[in-house]
Amino acid sequence: MLSVAPMMDWTDSHCRVFHRLLAPHARLYTEMVHANAVLQGDRARLLARDPVENPVALQLGGSEPSLLAQAACVGQGHGFDEVNLNVGCPSDRVQAGRFGACLMKEPALVADCIGAMVEAVGKLDRPIPVTVKCRLGVDEENDYGRFLSFIDTVAAAGCHTFFVHARNAWLQGLSPKENREVPPLRYDWAYRLKQERPALTIAVNGGIATQAAALEHLQKVDGVMLGRAAYHDPYVLHGLDVALFGGTLQSRAQLLRRLQPYVEARLQQGVALKHITRHLLGLYHGQPGGRAFRQVLSEGAHLPGADWSLIEQAIGMTEMRVRSAA
Ligand SMILES: Cc1cc2nc3c(=O)[nH]c(=O)nc-3n(C[C@H](O)[C@H](O)[C@H](O)COP(=O)(O)O)c2cc1C
Repeated sequence: MLSVAPMMDWTDSHCRVFHRLLAPHARLYTEMVHANAVLQGDRARLLARDPVENPVALQLGGSEPSLLAQAACVGQGHGFDEVNLNVGCPSDRVQAGRFGACLMKEPALVADCIGAMVEAVGKLDRPIPVTVKCRLGVDEENDYGRFLSFIDTVAAAGCHTFFVHARNAWLQGLSPKENREVPPLRYDWAYRLKQERPALTIAVNGGIATQAAALEHLQKVDGVMLGRAAYHDPYVLHGLDVALFGGTLQSRAQLLRRLQPYVEARLQQGVALKHITRHLLGLYHGQPGGRAFRQVLSEGAHLPGADWSLIEQAIGMTEMRVRSAA
């Protein structure tokens, strides 16, 4: 099981369509959307999804069981294949709303949320799984038993799949960015969880940057979820997808050119090219011409009339560098 992590401002629909081309078998996640926003906000924008993205999961934030249950049903109705509850975000705004990582301290409430969501989507014609993305604990907690008890409580409410961002969240004193870097990673807790609860599906998340690292984790758990590496070096997704599910490795240019019909259709609808190209910048990460590729896209995509030819020009920069290196 390979998945791309939910990332606010990053994993929008354009990004997911691109990742889908790279990794046909990966499960993709939306940015977190609060249950209230799903129920009262602009659904066409918040739940935007292109059919090629599937399988794709909607990540919800919230801690009010009946609202989450309704939002989960709306998500199902909009064609999502899974609903995931965020129990990992440490931002102040999220803490003030009593959701995200601070819910690690309230397993009974999380179980109520999951129970309500599972029951509600279970009544639909096409029931979809309800999953959780969590941390190991919060602040200075260092008690595996407490983490296990959180998982058991939530699993008993009907969640069978956990994405474990394998570090604590520190609720005070660290920014969300620092909270993805400073608290130490402890993959062994996720491995131990899988050993002790073999019936649960356990995916590990946090700091997985290479194919080799991902494959090593998969010896011990059921899945890997990549966040920043998938975004900044997306070709790693392609290598992993081929390694795990078979198929032929394609070049970056081959993969990118398959995005052309999508880009042209969106431009026709009035989407500015820059909204799509911002997600492509990492494709040639560490490759000859990678800087020139980024530069062409960054400098040209916001100009009026920018179209597919800019992406061809950017690809051309990398092909030129490869030829001149040879
Ligand atoms: C820009 C950004 C936005 C994020 N937004 C979310 C989010 O909406 N929901 C969530 O559960 N995690 C979010 N995360 C955390 C990631 O899903 C992931 O757990 C974290 O980055 C660790 O994985 P990585 O080391 O593979 O990046 C975000 C991370 C980044 C970098």
